[in-house]
Amino acid sequence: MLTADAAGIAQAAALLDQGALIAFPTETVYGLGADARNGAAVARIFAAKDRPQFNPLIVHVADANAAQIYAEWSDMADRLAAAFWPGPLTLVLPLRAGSGLSPLVSAGQPSVALRAPDHPVGAALLAAFGGPIAAPSANPSGRISPTQAAHVLAGLDGRIAGIVDGGACPVGVESTIVGLGDMPTLLRPGGLPAEAVEAALGMPLAAPVSGAPLTAPGQLASHYAPRAGVRLNAQRAQAGEVLVGFGPDVVGDTTLSASGDLTEAAARLFEVLHALDASGVTGIAVAPIPDHGLGRAINDRLRRAAAPRGAPSSGQ
Ligand code: TXA
Ligand code: MG
Repeated sequence: MLTADAAGIAQAAALLDQGALIAFPTETVYGLGADARNGAAVARIFAAKDRPQFNPLIVHVADANAAQIYAEWSDMADRLAAAFWPGPLTLVLPLRAGSGLSPLVSAGQPSVALRAPDHPVGAALLAAFGGPIAAPSANPSGRISPTQAAHVLAGLDGRIAGIVDGGACPVGVESTIVGLGDMPTLLRPGGLPAEAVEAALGMPLAAPVSGAPLTAPGQLASHYAPRAGVRLNAQRAQAGEVLVGFGPDVVGDTTLSASGDLTEAAARLFEVLHALDASGVTGIAVAPIPDHGLGRAINDRLRRAAAPRGAPSSGQ
């Protein structure tokens, strides 16, 4: 465990420089970072996570200037970065020739996913390292994303060089991913409400077309899965289930937000799932969550947690 002070961050940056894997906090979830220009280091990410295939990774950068080293920039990219970076928005853009990124980062595709995280520790690590950091969520493939250093340790202990402990992640769900191809497309709902992106662009976001090149390949059925079965839109628990409430109407054994606040619910989602998983419950029933704003990201993650297991998944 590395401390989130200057000494710990300098150590983490030195380890990244050597090609090692470092988990670090962002405002969304903990990322498992590697030098995005070092193919061996990036390959270690896939090995540590047991990621069954080479899904492309998000590259973390300090700001829009750094992003333009790696991607073909555009007016829309400029508008969104100006409005929302640093923050929980990932932009998928055409990869720039001679970017210097390992091709593994993009899984050989001609695009790259970029984001500037809004977290003092993530930002300090990017500044100390001085280069692009490829980082998926710091969980074993197919499991729940980590929102605390202890979650990372529980999943990846012994497989990574260090974890910078920056406390709990304030947003708690992964970034919103927007593809900027011919049409701006919502590739993954996340910590920035899609409505805010649409307002900034002055147009609706398209839904991803399956099979099209600009899809988020990691967005397949069973992800974010706790060991327990998950049942959605529950008003009460059935035998053997623990009820996770939302709002005043469905109180539950525990709650995502007693007042029905979606921001609080997003921040607590993975923490609640991790805690229930660790307690060994066999069934998790979850109250209905409104499907707007951050509720879209919450419902997306819950649907994946509830999806049938067993089918091969390209879990993140
Ligand atoms: O909040 C987040 O986004 C966190 C933190 C650590 O930044 N990261 C994260 O990474 O959630 P990961 O690997 O768990 O999910 C990345 C998603 C995957 O669904 C992947 O398919 C998609 O981003 N993605 C990455 N590069 C892409 C590309 N070039 N084109 C389309 N989708 C891409
Ligand atoms: Mg992930």
